[in-house]
This record gives sequence, C-alpha cells and structure tokens, in this order.
Amino acid sequence: MSNKDISSSLKESRSFPPPAAFQSRAHIKSEEQYQQLWNYSVENPEKYWSEQAESLLTWFKKWDKTLEWDLPHAKWFSGGKINVSYNCLDRHLTPERRKKPAIIWEGEPGDSRTLTYEDLHKEVCQFANVLKSQGIKKGDRVTVYMPLVPELAIAILACTRIGATHCVIFGGFSSDAIADRNNNAESKMVLTADGGWRRGQVVELKKNVDEAMLKSKSVEKIIVYQRCKNTVTMKDGRDFWWHDLMAKVSADCPAEELDSEHPLFILYTSGSTGSPKGILHTTAGYLLGATITSKYVFDLKEDDVYWCTADIGWVTGHSYVVYGPLANGATTVMYEGAPNTPDWGRFWNIIEKYKVSIFYTAPTAIRAFAKAGEEWPNKHNLKTLRLLGSVGEPINPEAWMWYQNKIGGGNCPVVDTWWQTETGSIMISPLPGATATVPGSATRPFFGVQPAIVDKEGVPVEEGKGGFLIIKTPWPSMLRTIWGDDNRFKEQYWSQIKGCYFTGDGARRDEKGNYWILGRIDDVLNVSGHRLSTMEIESALVSDPAVAEAAVVGAPHDLKGESIHCFVTLKIGNAPTDDVRKRLIDVVVKHIGAFARPEAVRFTDSLPKTRSGKIMRRLLRDIAAGRESKGDTSTLEDFSVLAKLREDEN
Ligand code: WTA
Repeated sequence: MSNKDISSSLKESRSFPPPAAFQSRAHIKSEEQYQQLWNYSVENPEKYWSEQAESLLTWFKKWDKTLEWDLPHAKWFSGGKINVSYNCLDRHLTPERRKKPAIIWEGEPGDSRTLTYEDLHKEVCQFANVLKSQGIKKGDRVTVYMPLVPELAIAILACTRIGATHCVIFGGFSSDAIADRNNNAESKMVLTADGGWRRGQVVELKKNVDEAMLKSKSVEKIIVYQRCKNTVTMKDGRDFWWHDLMAKVSADCPAEELDSEHPLFILYTSGSTGSPKGILHTTAGYLLGATITSKYVFDLKEDDVYWCTADIGWVTGHSYVVYGPLANGATTVMYEGAPNTPDWGRFWNIIEKYKVSIFYTAPTAIRAFAKAGEEWPNKHNLKTLRLLGSVGEPINPEAWMWYQNKIGGGNCPVVDTWWQTETGSIMISPLPGATATVPGSATRPFFGVQPAIVDKEGVPVEEGKGGFLIIKTPWPSMLRTIWGDDNRFKEQYWSQIKGCYFTGDGARRDEKGNYWILGRIDDVLNVSGHRLSTMEIESALVSDPAVAEAAVVGAPHDLKGESIHCFVTLKIGNAPTDDVRKRLIDVVVKHIGAFARPEAVRFTDSLPKTRSGKIMRRLLRDIAAGRESKGDTSTLEDFSVLAKLREDEN
C-alpha cells in the first residue's frame, strides 16, 4: 500500500433532485424505494440475486445454488446453464423487437450502418460457424484487436455463442503489448482488421498483429475484417479474410448451453506491479451485473437510443456498449473514430442525427469539449437527451456542471458511475429517478453492493475522512481470478484488508451517505480514463540500454486528468540529450502504445530514496506537479537529490 495522502479538500454543497418528469417514468422512483430495495438486497443477498437472475435472464437450466463463497473465490448460480449471446440476441427475436435496431453504427468517414436484432443475430450465428470451421472450440481463447465496427461486437458475441473466451485488446496498443497478451492467454486465434479510421488516418491494425506474431507462440490463425482497404500482407494458410469465410457458412448455429461459471472473457488491465493482469469474468454473474445496472442506472426503456462512447477494448465497452444494452433489448450506438473529427461538433452531430436519449462518456472528453467551447453543442438539437453518464475517473464539479447545463440543458440527471474492470459492472452511482445528484460524487452503492471506507488496519474511518475503499461482500459480476495467477489475485485484492475486496481507490463518505472517489492510492495512473501502471512504464524505460533507473509518476493535467512524468537516471557514459529523451518516449510508445506517451522525461543524477532504498514517489509527484512537498521527508536518504531536482526545474 502506498503512503500517498488520501485527503480531500473538495467542498460541494450543490445538490440536484431528480427532475419530476424523469422521476415519474423511472424504474426506481424515489429515494425511499431505492433505500428499501438496497436494504433488502444486502440483508438477503442470495435471495435478491436469485430473484433478479430469474427475472432478468433467460436460462436453459436453472441453477442449484445461488452462491458458493470460498473466500476469495465465488461461484454464482452453480449448476445453471445459460448463454450470453442467446440472452443478447435470440430472446429478442419477438415480433416487437426483431426489427428494432440493435446497433446503430457510424464510421469516422461518415458511413453508417444499422443492424436490427434479426440482422445481428444472423451475423453472429454465421461468424460463430466461421470460428468453429476454423477449429475454435469451447474454452479456447480468441484475441480480438479490431476497430470500433459492428464486427467487433459480432466477434465477441460469436465467441460467447460457442463458449470461446474472448480477450479484446484496445486498438491503441502496440505489437509488443499484443504479443504479451496473446502469450499470457495462450490465444489460438486473432481477429483483426486491415485497419481502422482515427483522425482521418488509417491505424494499421493488421500490421501490428503481424509484428506481434513474431512473438506469439500459441496463435494459429488470423481472421481479417476488411475495413479501410489499406494494403496488408496475408500469409497463406494462416491469414483469412472475414468476408471469404462468412460466404462459406450457414446462419444456423444454436447457442451452446454453458455452465454459469464458464470463462466468458479475459480483459487485461494495469495493476501496481509490472505486467498487465488478465481479469477473468465468467458467464452468468457477469451478464446479470451488466444487465441489471444497465436497466436501473441508465433507466433503459424500450424506445431509448443509448450511446456509450467507450471503445470495446476497455471494460466500459464490454459492459455498456455491448452486453448490458443488448441483454436489455436496447438500441446501442457505436462510433468508430475520434471525438473531434472532422471538428468538435462530431458527438453532438451524432446525438442529433440518431436522436440519442442516453449518453455515457468520460470526464476527459467532457473537459475537452468544455474547452472547445459551447458553440459546438449549441449548433445541434440535443433535446432528445434525457440522461447523461460519466465514467472512468473522478469528474471535477466544473466539468459536471458544464455537462449538466450545456449538454443536458439543465434537464437531464447526470449519473457519475464508479466501477472497475474487476467489478464487471457499476458499483456506486446515482439512480437517476431516485438519487439527488451532487457534482463530483458517485453518491450511492448499487443494489447488493456493500462498500466501506477503512484505514490500513481495516477499521472504518470517521464520516467525512478519506480512507481505502473496500467492498465487504461478494457480488455476481466480480472478477473470479487473474488468468494464470491466482496468487496475484489473492494478494492484490484480498490480502490488504482481511476478508474484503480491496479496490485500490481512496474515497470518503459524507454526512448524507454519498461516496466521493478520491482516485488511486496505488501506483496506477489514470490518463484520459485509461489505467496505466507506473511499473509497466518504468520497465519499458529501463529496457533501453542507456537507462540505469527510472521512476514514473502522474501529474495533474487539465484535460487528461493525469499525465505521465518520467524521472530517469542514465548509465555512466550516456549524455542526457534531446535525442535520448525522444528515444525514451518512443520506447514507451513501442512497449505500450501511443496513448501512454509521456508528457515529460527528466534526467537526474539520482532519485530520491528512503534509507531502505524505496523510491519516494510522493516527492516526485510533488515535483512533477510543481508544488511544495508537504509531509514527512525524514526518511529521505539524501536531501541534496531533492534540492537538485528542484533546481533543474527552475
Ligand atoms: C477510476 C473503468 C472516480 C477508479 C470502469 C477505478 C473512477 C478505475 C470512476 C477503474 C468514477 C472509474 N469516479 N473514479 N466514476 N470510474 N474510476 O478498470 O480509480 O479502466 O479504480 O474501469 O478508474 O478503471 P477501469
């Protein structure tokens, strides 16, 4: 556990009750109703979850036992048989829903496609047959590295249909990162595309996969979706075009009846130690979490047009672009490209064009839009919007207010949703028809969720004081383990506070019972809502032959939330030149991806350390942020290091 201060000086007294018109139509209509249901859900968790599983999901066979809890291992709905793609597709092929748009998609160049539930079902069945015809079986891992096109959703739904476990890798990751993940998951196949559009340029995805293949031992075949028609190299017998294979198969593919705990997907995320962790989610519990939170947090109704701007490469895209909305039979919007291409009006144009009613995005985007100016949203009719959501990092009250007023016209509740890759679905959030929202606060725990804020010993802190955010009891969509490393799973999440899930976030709870997330307390950075480990960046830096030692910290950044600052000491005989600086930035981009590009690389003769040799990151954070170091420096081994670093700055 790091000793970074968990403190908060934020005072916020504004509070917005749900608008009456919203409230009267909402699934959960009042604070009392929420409170009653929440009490019931935590007093009778198994009963509550069993009732929800029964009413929200369609089962081939009912489960025998709702929860088997062998701390820290949970099994939910054991003995049950179910299929995720069946729940997202087949059960909606009713006369009322078959022709309803499931996905409305817009490409960055402006092309657009609508797939009804019937269309999507057909494509998924066909692609599931493609997977089978290429040797993919239940339990095999399939890597997915694609642009945000409908085929990405089709790919993962097809995996779930036959019981293959998907591992989606965000398209911004480099070939090294793809190879690491392929090897860790022992993936048998990679699904990719020739390229994807981003800011008018083609991102050459297939080329990155080709490079990754030099180091990916387990991958046998690659299927390539043609998106940009850029030139790609296809290797005979290994690489196949998506459209060629689709032309050869039937659209008849019944959904596999899978165990509730069948591995659904692995998603890699950053932790406080070196290598990325493969977070494992399983079938029924995850689906229930994604389904129920989509229904209540977004208050989904039959006629909503729902848009979550996340990429499917992150957990938000898994739970709230694909699985949650589709399991509810909703219409989900997908947009391929950058928010400011061709200009800052793009998002608002999409909302107007498709009459979006629910919009879910990240604080980093909201801040960038606020900076670009209200003239952009003002040019568009945003009156169809009825609900706004935020996710990925703490949202500052100014950005929250801008979002509510300029985008929501002052009429839409704003739900600030806190959760993690590990939690699978939203854990703390207002319910829009019930909870009074407060700018900057994620407010209340969702049904069945029991958070607490504690000190290092696990003792609850006083009301209003900062502490570690933990979850006291298991929930259906919780991670089951770290793929291939159950010890790390136990250590990282279950050994800090006995018997409880350790989130890695600091938080406080105010006198009204609202939760305020204060950010990470471990060595994880949050850059534009993307989780990055300082250790991962450091190990990239020290892989350069000139580097002796490196320490990476985050500094506050107006738009990105945090930016990456690297402190580097060079081996004797290496001069700290601009060329070396540039090379080190490139090393980070190569190992991780362009979205992890450091903001600053500083050279120093030595790093501030404790007498026991631990780098004092807190001091580096102060320097990177350009603020005076407060707090204890008595353990610092050599004060001159700090003075020198400050001098260099001036
Ligand atoms: C942060 C993204 C404050 C937090 C869903 C968490 C937030 C990490 C919020 C998980 C929020 C996410 N307010 N902080 N509403 N939502 N976070 O795994 O630090 O990519 O631990 O999942 O993002 O990031 P991840």
